[in-house]
Amino acid sequence: MIHMTNISKSYNKGEIKAVDNLSLHIRPGEIFGFLGPNGAGKTTTIKMIVGLLNPDKGSIVINGHDIENETIEAKQSIGYVPDNPNIYDRLNGIEYLNFLADVYRVSEDVRRERIEYLLNMFGLTDAAYDPINTYSHGMKQKIVLTGALIHEPAVWILDEPMVGLDPKSSHFLKEYMREHCNRGNTVFFSTHVLEVAERLCDRIGIINKGKLIAIGTMNELRGGEHAESLESIFLELTEI
Ligand SMILES: Nc1ncnc2c1ncn2[C@@H]1O[C@H](COP(=O)(O)OP(=O)(O)O)[C@@H](O)[C@H]1O
Ligand SMILES: [Mg+2]
Repeated sequence: MIHMTNISKSYNKGEIKAVDNLSLHIRPGEIFGFLGPNGAGKTTTIKMIVGLLNPDKGSIVINGHDIENETIEAKQSIGYVPDNPNIYDRLNGIEYLNFLADVYRVSEDVRRERIEYLLNMFGLTDAAYDPINTYSHGMKQKIVLTGALIHEPAVWILDEPMVGLDPKSSHFLKEYMREHCNRGNTVFFSTHVLEVAERLCDRIGIINKGKLIAIGTMNELRGGEHAESLESIFLELTEI
């Protein structure tokens, strides 16, 4: 579902190598957790996957479509939640969601049902008609999540989606991610919450200084031996 082949990206005319020859293949039905210390290159990778940044080298294919050459087709399969929920905050929640539903051409009936369901699960129903600039960080995060999923995209790309979510919403999101993948879809998300990654992900990739330094199931990362936690594996691998 997501094929990244040898992608690299530098900033400041090559001074900062943010992503260095990264290849990843995320399969249908898979929740993939993308971990790494601050500045490792997670957000840069994610921005390239969703077509906000072009790689200097390499290719990215989403659901059979090259993000650079078949951008519209590729983007139709993507639901993207950025790491900071800065949105059109003069709109109210419902206006924002209707705007996105229009962009993605979701019919009136279908959108009504999805909006009602998601707002209810996220506990946002009462705030739906309030302007977004009155929302807390967590509420903004939830309205952005709802908007990103309104067209039921096959591939979810979430950059630190649990930040700011209350326990009920974060529980719902995890369940919803699993259901999505059980239907043969894909979730790719970055997180610093290692306990969530450990319990939720089918596979985990760890990036450090732009390079993939480990990839596999929890068992594979442990080397099939003792019950080491993801935290101790992470700390060992990312030690300088
Ligand atoms: N717009 C930018 N201009 C210059 N350097 C950047 C920019 N965005 C990120 N970087 C640098 O690229 C590296 C990777 O950053 P990022 O992808 O945001 O990492 P992460 O999401 O893993 O914390 C860091 O060294 C960061 O300082
Ligand atoms: Mg980041």
